[in-house]
Amino acid sequence: MSKVDQYAVFGHPINHSKSPRIHGLFAEQTQQQLNYTAEDVPAESFESAISHFFEQGGKGINCTVPLKELAWQRVDKRSERAQFSKAVNTVVLQQNGSLLGDNTDGIGLVTDLTINHDISIHNKRILILGAGGASRGIIGPIMEQSPAHLVIANRTVDKSITLSNEFSPLGNIKGCCYGEIKNSEFDLIINATSASLTGDLPPLSDTLLAAQGHCYDLAYSNDPTAFVKWGLNHQAAKSLDGLGMLVEQAAEAFYIWRNIRPETEEIIALLNAERNG
Ligand code: ATR
Repeated sequence: MSKVDQYAVFGHPINHSKSPRIHGLFAEQTQQQLNYTAEDVPAESFESAISHFFEQGGKGINCTVPLKELAWQRVDKRSERAQFSKAVNTVVLQQNGSLLGDNTDGIGLVTDLTINHDISIHNKRILILGAGGASRGIIGPIMEQSPAHLVIANRTVDKSITLSNEFSPLGNIKGCCYGEIKNSEFDLIINATSASLTGDLPPLSDTLLAAQGHCYDLAYSNDPTAFVKWGLNHQAAKSLDGLGMLVEQAAEAFYIWRNIRPETEEIIALLNAERNG
C-alpha cells in the first residue's frame, strides 16, 4: 500500500455509499493526508477482507450493512458503547496491532438531534419504531440524555421486550407492540425499522405525535422517506431523515482515527444542496 493512510467502508451493497465523499471532504477540510475507499464485501468475505486490509497496512474501516455484527465479533477489543450495542461501525488499528471496535451511530444521531436541530431528548417521551440492529445501536446514547421514558415498539413484540429488558438498567424503558401505543403520545418518534426503505410504514395511530413533537428517520434518501412524509402529514415541528446522522457518525469515526474533529455543518449543507439540486 502507498504511504498515505488507508481507510475504507466495507458493506454490501456499497455502490451508493456517501462515506468516501464525506471522509474525502473531512480530509480536505482538516488537511489530513488519507485515502478512503468503498469496498464491496458480502458477509461471507468479511473475514478475508478485513484480515487482508489490515495486513496491507490499512489504518481503519467503517462497517455497514450487513457487517456490523460480524465486525463486533471480529475485533479484539470494544468500546463500552460498542459492547452494549452488539454492533461495530468503526474499527481502528491500535499501536500494538490489535483492532478496537467502536459504534458511532448513536452519538451521531444524538449530535444531529440535539446540536444541529436543537431537539432536546432530556425529560422527553421518546418512541423508537423497530427492534433490530439499528435500534440497538441508538438506545444507549439516547438513555444518556435522560429522557422521561423510552418506548420501543416492534411488529415482533418478543424482540422489543428482549431489547427493553437488556437496556432497562439504563432507565425507564418499555418494549411493546404497535397496538399497545395507539393511545399514547410522544415528543420524539425515531424510525429505526427498515420499512421506510421500501416505502412501508409500521401501523401508527394519528394521535401518536405530541403537539410540537419531532420525527426522525434513521434512513435517508434523495426523496422524503415514507416516515418523513408521515411526520410532515402529522404536523411535526421537524420531520428529518438520517443524512445528518450519517455525517455525524462519520465525523466521530474520523475523530477516532485522526484525533481531529471535522466541522460538519457545511458538509451537511453541501450534501443537502446536492440532493435537492
Ligand atoms: P436493522 O439492522 O436495519 O435494524 P433488522 O435487524 O433486520 O435491520 O431489523 C429491521 C427492523 O425493521 C425490525 O424491527 C423489523 O420488525 P420485525 O422485528 O417485526 O421483523 C422492522 N420492520 C421491517 N419491515 C417492517 C414493516 N413493513 N413494518 C414494521 N416493521 C418492519
